[in-house]
Amino acid sequence: MTARPTADIHADLLVIPVFADDDLADEAGLDRASDGEVTRARERGELTGKPFETLVISTASSGWQTPRTVLVGAGGRKDFTADHLRRIAIVGGLAARQRRLTRVAVADRAGASFAPTLAAQAVAEGLCLANFDGGAYRTTGPQRTWIEAADVRVSGSAQGVSDALERGRVLGEYTNETRALANAPGNELTPRVFAERADGLAKAAGLSSEILDEQRIAALKMGMLMGVAQGSQEPPRLVILRHEPPNAIPGVVLGLVGKGITFDTGGISIKPAENMDKMKDDMSGGAAVICAMSAMARLKVPVRAVAVVPMTENMPSGRAVKPGDVLTSACGKTVEIINTDAEGRLILGDGLWYARELGATHLVDIATLTGACVVALGKTTSGLFGTPRPWVDAVHRASERAGDRSWPMPVFDDYMDQLKSEIADFTNTGGRGAGAITAALFLKEFVADVPWVHIDIAGTAWAEEAKPYQPKGPTGVGVRTLVELALDAPAWSAQNLKS
Ligand code: BES
Ligand code: MN
Ligand code: ZN
Repeated sequence: MTARPTADIHADLLVIPVFADDDLADEAGLDRASDGEVTRARERGELTGKPFETLVISTASSGWQTPRTVLVGAGGRKDFTADHLRRIAIVGGLAARQRRLTRVAVADRAGASFAPTLAAQAVAEGLCLANFDGGAYRTTGPQRTWIEAADVRVSGSAQGVSDALERGRVLGEYTNETRALANAPGNELTPRVFAERADGLAKAAGLSSEILDEQRIAALKMGMLMGVAQGSQEPPRLVILRHEPPNAIPGVVLGLVGKGITFDTGGISIKPAENMDKMKDDMSGGAAVICAMSAMARLKVPVRAVAVVPMTENMPSGRAVKPGDVLTSACGKTVEIINTDAEGRLILGDGLWYARELGATHLVDIATLTGACVVALGKTTSGLFGTPRPWVDAVHRASERAGDRSWPMPVFDDYMDQLKSEIADFTNTGGRGAGAITAALFLKEFVADVPWVHIDIAGTAWAEEAKPYQPKGPTGVGVRTLVELALDAPAWSAQNLKS
């Protein structure tokens, strides 16, 4: 481990961050190795340090073992965070794959900006995240190249750094696993197939896993999950995963619930044709929960956790649930269906109840739940809803560490007026205003007094525009947030959370 790029790194491509306020006074001999190309590029204005600008230079004729270097703009040094470094590693990794290069080295130049373990984790995550390709279903076109070897150069104690590299690799790989699941089309990833894939991932990681079929779901009287599922030819599934490490914090069970709609047509309240294809990713929250649990098992995170993922299609048919129908949830509360397209909250309500039954002391659900959340926060930021505030803040901090941006939203009881029903306990939709908040208030009806946070990833699960560090397509948002939250359990479990 060394702080500086050196002539003896063996790789196909060396990635070096360049700061806007760097003088690059031939630190590490880069200018010499490139025959003065770095200075000339600086003078031409081709190398300004602007975030994510790239410049590939040849170091082939120097004594360096690595023939090419990609300089990646890193912005100002004083604003530099692990999040920037993760993104720089992604940009560098993508540049390598574009050039059909398979061995990548990253030199961290963060210096004392943050801990070397954070740097190591960020770089490992970034390089893994660069190793995802959404075109998995193409049979023609250029062959894809994958990064096969990575050399990460940061300073710091070898032990701490190698653990951090492993953490980054696991988090990056399970984020990609979530992206692959979200990318899978609805005809492939039916609820039954989703459940089998979850079971396979979980068991391979060392979790205990159970799949409940439609009879078991009926036995639990999950009327809301069954109500959504009844319009489909495909039967629903409920996946339950358990992480029970021997050294767990006593009395704490993190309960994770993820929305697993494998395709959302809207049901009888059918969606317009435009963009309906995107609704294959309506199981992104469920996939994030499954992959986060698997990562927690691989990393032996010392907190007990239970995951509940209800899986179904939302389809219109002669048997589908209709507006005006009343469903009875597993906990006994009744719901008047106003709009069958508000199906996520229905399956999550039964899921949250079941996570409590299984002993969850702290709840987090994650779901592509509302278009209203996309209106409120856009495509970069997930919405956080919940109670009590310190628990919301714990999830918020975890998401910051993970590089999954999020922001807290209010869940004032007053909004509950919008869910008043003439004939049942409440309705499933609350009209135009505050749509993301009324969805959260609906979920709140099923969490009783257990600390709970709902993460709305409707805007963040799928990137519609490519960025240098994020190609178009599934993002895998939430996986790293949930694992970072679990890693932080010693801190939040010591707090007294009374809602
Ligand atoms: N899966 C959608 C939410 C969604 C919308 C995700 C856009 C990603 C992008 C959810 O099931 C849904 O249809 N929500 C409705 C709720 C409404 C009927 C109250 C919505 O947001 O329009
Ligand atoms: Mn819907
Ligand atoms: Zn949906």
